[in-house]
Amino acid sequence: MEFTETAATRRSVHEYSDELIDQSTLDAIFRTTTLAPSGYNLQPWEFLALRDGETKTALKQVANGQEHVVDADTAVVIFGNTDPMAHAETVFDDWLAKGYIPTEDVRAALLDNVETMAGMSEAERRIWTTRSSALAAMTLMYAAWEHGVASCPMEGFDATALIEAFDIPEGYEPVMLVTLGYPDSEAADIENERKGRRPIEDVVHYEEFDPSERSTVEAPDIGE
Ligand SMILES: Cc1cc2nc3c(=O)[nH]c(=O)nc-3n(C[C@H](O)[C@H](O)[C@H](O)COP(=O)(O)O)c2cc1C
Repeated sequence: MEFTETAATRRSVHEYSDELIDQSTLDAIFRTTTLAPSGYNLQPWEFLALRDGETKTALKQVANGQEHVVDADTAVVIFGNTDPMAHAETVFDDWLAKGYIPTEDVRAALLDNVETMAGMSEAERRIWTTRSSALAAMTLMYAAWEHGVASCPMEGFDATALIEAFDIPEGYEPVMLVTLGYPDSEAADIENERKGRRPIEDVVHYEEFDPSERSTVEAPDIGE
């Protein structure tokens, strides 16, 4: 699938068929997901993939009872590690080995930068990790759709209850839930009409930020 087609045909899907996703397909989807960019390539994301009826039901209970959490083959909780230092040494070792940075001194300077970031307030670190982890969530949805696996992103959950229910250690921000499953064919028709989008004339601002007060949505133009 060309990217524009992947983006244009992806939908937030709420009705799933009973068809199971092969482990090899899930692996391929997650491998592509990890190609998402992240600040300093620190990859703060972690994915809790729930496939069992019991664990999906536990997730539904902290996700406003949203039924598609259990109907989908897999429900993924995307966490962001709020500690920028967590993987910094490994990542900068890789940069050094590949000649992406020239010397040990540069590696040390980079580590200092990240350590400074690690000194940010908790609120700032939560925003920090959400930026990269949300990009991973989007990549997950596009990667899935390339395999014909539909998805639905979700913010409708109680983060505190989720952390408690799944015994999540301190320092991990539940950024988003994403359901994954093959779409139910009849529901796919219902969900197929593209929801309107705010036009680029309203949302894109060249050189000067002049947010439009106009509030319109229209069928997106995905032409050249
Ligand atoms: C951050 C975020 C949170 C969302 N939360 C929910 C949710 O809790 N439950 C749900 O059914 N859909 C949720 N959605 C899906 C949106 O309703 C959907 O993306 C939007 O209506 C546009 O439809 P489309 O994704 O099919 O283009 C969420 C989407 C985003 C990006």
